[in-house]
This record gives sequence, structure tokens and C-alpha cells, in this order.
Amino acid sequence: MKKIALAAAALATVTALALTGCSGSGRTADPSASGDAGASAGFAADSTIGVALPDKTSENWVLAGKLFEDGLKEAGFKGDVQYAPASNTVAEQQNQISAMITNGAKVIVIGAKDGKQLGTQLQQAADAGVKIIAYDRLIENTPNVDYYVAFDNFKVGELQGQALLDGLAKRSGHAAPWNVELFSGSPDDANSAVFFDGAMKVLQPKIDDGTLKVVSGQTAIAQTATQGWKAENAQSRMDSLLAANYTSATIDGVLSPNDTLARAIITSVKQAGKDISTFTVTGQDSEVESVKSIMAGEQYSTINKDTSLLVEQTIKMIGQLQKGEDVDVNDTEQYNNGVKVVPAYLLKPVIVTKENAAEAYANNPTLLDIVKAAQ
Ligand code: BGC
Repeated sequence: MKKIALAAAALATVTALALTGCSGSGRTADPSASGDAGASAGFAADSTIGVALPDKTSENWVLAGKLFEDGLKEAGFKGDVQYAPASNTVAEQQNQISAMITNGAKVIVIGAKDGKQLGTQLQQAADAGVKIIAYDRLIENTPNVDYYVAFDNFKVGELQGQALLDGLAKRSGHAAPWNVELFSGSPDDANSAVFFDGAMKVLQPKIDDGTLKVVSGQTAIAQTATQGWKAENAQSRMDSLLAANYTSATIDGVLSPNDTLARAIITSVKQAGKDISTFTVTGQDSEVESVKSIMAGEQYSTINKDTSLLVEQTIKMIGQLQKGEDVDVNDTEQYNNGVKVVPAYLLKPVIVTKENAAEAYANNPTLLDIVKAAQ
């Protein structure tokens, strides 16, 4: 029998989410899921473990590589950590994964560049008995992904949606209705729809009742996408939105799915000569520059998804596979990749604003120093 560490809190969240019936690409409620991915028979304690990471679109990816190098070594494995380069990323990641399989990796951890384009490589992995852990981003449309480890990304979206509403009430200087615009991440990243769906669960009722007005009318995810999670794409879309809709109207806030894009949006708003102190923009990742911006009263919120905890949990799962033990998961319902529900271990994200930054970063000396210096 598969051991399922289903914490009561996680169960409550899962149930609540299932009841909403809210689903996005890569995330559906499927009560029939068993979560039994089957423990492997184990493998040598000094085996090679592959880690295939995407291009470095945010600081969390840079940090993850270093933490995997150190953590796998400390756990006695030979780590083979690779990044997909910013150019030709999908093909390079496919090649890197194939090479890891050929070179005898026992487990491959994948932060997918494009989670829909790894079917061939993962079939190759399954044929060779290599276990696959999708890291942070779900891998879609293949039966050959064994586990998913991530922060609860739907919850990230909900927290962002709520933060936007809170920020508008605190900063705009006027009562509702508020003029806002919506941004989402890169369409090739399964997380983008999950973040957006989570946020829209909170925001859609407020759009419907007139509390929020999306002046451009661009509320469909395809209209809000930011290809490649690139700052320049977010900035140019924001420039266009401002020029087309806000020459006389006030822009009160923007839903931004991460910190890199939030800073690009702030740059655009400033360049248009708008007042940033009454403007609210959300974020994610607790990037150094965004924590500084929050403390300076510009960006309103971010999300703390402690990369060290995510890497630690992943290495724990690899250790369980190595010993042939059951692998801990705490969610067996939410993440349907189009072919199956992938057993997942989800960690809890934390919303951070200026008010709780010191508490949120209590265990992060770099960020805590920034917070203290600004207080
Ligand atoms: C991650 C985010 C990150 C984004 C861009 C997503 O898949 O979950 O934390 O901001 O990729 O790198």
C-alpha cells in the first residue's frame, strides 16, 4: 500500500478547491485518483540524479540549481544539473534529458521549459526505468511523470487576487470601482493558467459586480499572456494598455503573476508619468529587487515560495525512491496532466507585503537585511 501523507490542512484545501469546480489547464479535481505511482525497487545510493531546469527567467531558478548541486552531493548522489539555455530552450532541454537517460540517471527532476513537449523523452525514460519528478511546473500529456513537487500554485493565484483587492482598498485613495489590468505568465508554462485561474476565482466575482473594471476588456488568459515570462514583453504590453486606455483614466492596479513582470509594469507606469504611490501591483518569488520595491512602497505584494524547502522536499523524495520506499505525497486529486492525475507534494506559499515582510523572511538573512535596512 502506498503511504499517503495527507495532512488535514491539505485535505481541507483540496476539498475546498474541488468544491469550487474551478479548473485550469493542468489542474482538475479527480476524486478517482489513487496516487499510487508505485515505489521503485530502489537503486545504488551513489547513483546519478539528473536535474533539468528551464532558462533562468526568475531568481528561484538560479537558486534551485545551486541548491540541487549542494543537496544531492550531501545526500551522497552524483548530481547532473543542467539549465536549458535562453535560446533554443525546448530542443536543448529535450537533448539534455535524453543524455541524462543515456548516462544512467536513476531519477530526473524536471523544471520544464515547455511541459507539453517532453513526451518522447519521458517515454525513453520510462523504457529505461528512470523515475521522473516534475519540479515546480507540471509536465503535461504524458503518462510517464511519476511525481509532482511544487508550491500550491492555485493558492498562489488566490493570494495574488486577494492581495490586489487589499492593495486597491489601501492605496488607491478612493472607493471602488477600481480600474485594473490583468497579466499572466508564459503560455508554455503549465503554471501560468493555474496562477491565473486561482487569481480569477477571487477577481471574477468582483469584475462581475462592478467593483473592478478591466478597462481594456482583456480578461481572457490568451490576451493577458506574457511570452517567455519576459520583462520586455510585459513592459510593452503595459505601455500599449496605458496608451490605449489610460490617457485620461486612472490605472489603479495590475494583477502580475511574478516579480520580474511586476517591476516591468512599474517601469511602464512610471514612464507614463502616473503616480506609483496610489498604484497596486502584485508579484511572486520574493526577488531581491522586488522586496526592495515593496519596502520602498512601490510594488504592493509578493509571494514567498522558499526554494530551499522545495529542493529539500525533492531530495527527500529521491531518497525514498533510492531506498525503494513509498514516496510521500499530500495531494492526489488536483494535478491532472491530461493523461493522469500526478501524485503531488504541495508546499504552502506565503503572501508578503511590507506589513509582514520581517516575519515572512525571518529565516532568510539576505531578504531580512533588506527589510531591516528599510525599516
Ligand atoms: C514559477 C514562478 C516563476 C515563473 C517564471 C513559474 O513556473 O512557478 O515562480 O516566477 O515560472 O520563472
